[in-house]
Amino acid sequence: MDPMSSRISARISAISESATLAVDAKAKAMKAAGRPVIGFGAGEPDFPTPGYIVEAAIEAARDPRFHKYTPAGGLPELKQAIAAKTLRDSGYEVDASRVLVTNGGKQAVYQAFAALLDPGDEVLVVAPYWTTYPEAIKLAGGVQVDVVTDETTGYLASVEQLEAARTERTKVLLFVSPSNPTGAVYSREQVEAIGRWAAEHGLWVVTDEIYEHLVYGGTEFTSIATAVPELGDKVVILNGVAKTYAMTGWRVGWLIGPADVVKAATNLQSHATSNVANVSQMAALAAVSGDLSAVAEMREAFDRRRKTMVRMLNDIPGVVCPEPMGAFYVYPSVKALLGKEIRGRRPQTSAELAELILEEAEVAVVPGEAFGTPGYFRLSYALGDDDLVEGVSRLQKLLAEAS
Ligand SMILES: Cc1ncc(COP(=O)(O)O)c(C=O)c1O
Repeated sequence: MDPMSSRISARISAISESATLAVDAKAKAMKAAGRPVIGFGAGEPDFPTPGYIVEAAIEAARDPRFHKYTPAGGLPELKQAIAAKTLRDSGYEVDASRVLVTNGGKQAVYQAFAALLDPGDEVLVVAPYWTTYPEAIKLAGGVQVDVVTDETTGYLASVEQLEAARTERTKVLLFVSPSNPTGAVYSREQVEAIGRWAAEHGLWVVTDEIYEHLVYGGTEFTSIATAVPELGDKVVILNGVAKTYAMTGWRVGWLIGPADVVKAATNLQSHATSNVANVSQMAALAAVSGDLSAVAEMREAFDRRRKTMVRMLNDIPGVVCPEPMGAFYVYPSVKALLGKEIRGRRPQTSAELAELILEEAEVAVVPGEAFGTPGYFRLSYALGDDDLVEGVSRLQKLLAEAS
């Protein structure tokens, strides 16, 4: 017997290391050793949290009320503000009792699947997908069924593709728009078609709306929960303050769902973590009850960088980069470069090519292997304009050598 498996449970030893964090760790180690690495791996805005949010946190830290345990499911005033914000931004009317405040969107993802899935239940997941979903589904005993998309459709799945993957075990459709890692955003018509199809087959929809405010070029975000009332109460919305307010480190997210799901997930959270840190909750309260001017400013910067990046990447022979309409990632295909010779090596996979690029050009990108689709890279454009241009220029120079 593998000695590891007897020490660590099968369930937990099956969890993979986060590939995005692994790339980041290697890039940081090289940087610490004095090498001028430019990292495109980050999944977070490069802006500080707006001052008025920080001030609200400082004030909360001074209030003895917040030095104590508070309700596991979240501060009542924050739940209320999240319900109001959801109505403002998505047109979705929900009572505060159906909101659960979590330690980041990540805990909302885990708890949603834990609450919904029994062993063997299938979840339709559009690939490329964010790395956390497979692990959360697996831990809950669920079975992930991939619906693979590519650059030819801008990484958008069709109802036909979803229907082809559906079986009688399918319980949940995971819907993510705007998407990490591709930046794909579904149009209102597409959202409605997919939502109606899910409703027709009695599926649950778990919709991750964390990038709702990061859409570009006139693209509009559509919440499937609002657009498709036929889904009834079989919708769970996942969201958080991380991306909209540059608050990744504060760890506040939420889950909105029907009363039984929220109750079950709250019970789980009451044993796992109890309430989210009160200081962070009060910061989140200032964020969601304030206006959206800070995200409008970030969006302008991201949009500028997005355009530069798409143009520069498409100038590289062998790279095909569709224009992403949301989030802050591009997801180019590098398939045509695989097997070519670069600096005496012949990378056969996007993971090998990413490693070569890190070593030779001192540029960190995340290979598509991390997102269920080898042959691609994910690059974040949430970094300064100068670094962005310098990093992609290095890529252009190195990859031009491919023969
Ligand atoms: C699609 C998506 N959902 C949820 C999250 C969770 O974010 P957090 O746990 O920082 O709130 C992320 C973070 O990268 C994400 O990309």
